[in-house]
Amino acid sequence: MAVIAVFNQKGGVGKTTTVLNIAASLALLERKPVLIYLDPQAHVSLALGIKNQQSSASTAGFFRDNTPMDRIMRRLANQIRLLPGHPDLSKVDALLGATPGVAGTLKRGLDAALAWEDSPILIDCAPSLGVLSLNALYAADRVLIPVTADYLAIQGLNRLYLALNVLEGPLKRRIPRRIVLTRFDEAKPQCREALAGLKTRYGDNLCDTRIPDDPALSESPAHGMDIFAYSSDSPGAHDYRLLTMELLSKGFFQ
Ligand SMILES: Nc1ncnc2c1ncn2[C@@H]1O[C@H](COP(=O)(O)OP(=O)(O)O)[C@@H](O)[C@H]1O
Ligand SMILES: [Mg+2]
Repeated sequence: MAVIAVFNQKGGVGKTTTVLNIAASLALLERKPVLIYLDPQAHVSLALGIKNQQSSASTAGFFRDNTPMDRIMRRLANQIRLLPGHPDLSKVDALLGATPGVAGTLKRGLDAALAWEDSPILIDCAPSLGVLSLNALYAADRVLIPVTADYLAIQGLNRLYLALNVLEGPLKRRIPRRIVLTRFDEAKPQCREALAGLKTRYGDNLCDTRIPDDPALSESPAHGMDIFAYSSDSPGAHDYRLLTMELLSKGFFQ
């Protein structure tokens, strides 16, 4: 099992879009991915055609009631196994924030349910560094950081790097990470400057593949589909296929 947290404490940078479409791409390659939603705001369970999701049968139930993961896991039409989220995840900080050892909850659950599998496990994180994201980072073998090419996003990235470096202390291990530029527009000087700055500062940690805007990427969730089911010839499908292949070739999912 390889656990990948898709994290950025900034919202709107493409975490949910990225995690869904990388998982869908891995599913098409028969890698049997597991997708875990830890963002109270992510309505992707809905986007994936799951309606009336009960709190008890979601990751909120896992954290609150210790519901075993295999009881909340659902297999989707695109062969992704999903641990759906729920708005009740927003209560986890207040409920469990003071519990000793709480940051290891997700890792313990994953070890119990999936340790013997070699499936990639992808986590869609909330845009904050609370109990849920700490659980994701604690469980993660690697972190994928989507970032948009604007000044504030890149300032945020620098802070995120510092936070990960601080976390490595108590974790007593490195957290390998890769950055992917999203919403990238080659024609905009601001985007080209951001790319040059990121290359200088983060070098090898920056993915070669960049994800430009594609309306199909924002439309597909409204149809309950990933980009490959919605429009497999779209530029967005091509880019996420390419990103997945790049990450596979660098051993990111092992
Ligand atoms: N490459 C893209 N092209 C077009 N729309 C995108 C792209 N990436 C993200 N979006 C849209 O931008 C919004 C924020 O993306 P999302 O993946 O939800 O970010 P996050 O999870 O980081 O908050 C969503 O409406 C999404 O559909
Ligand atoms: Mg999101």
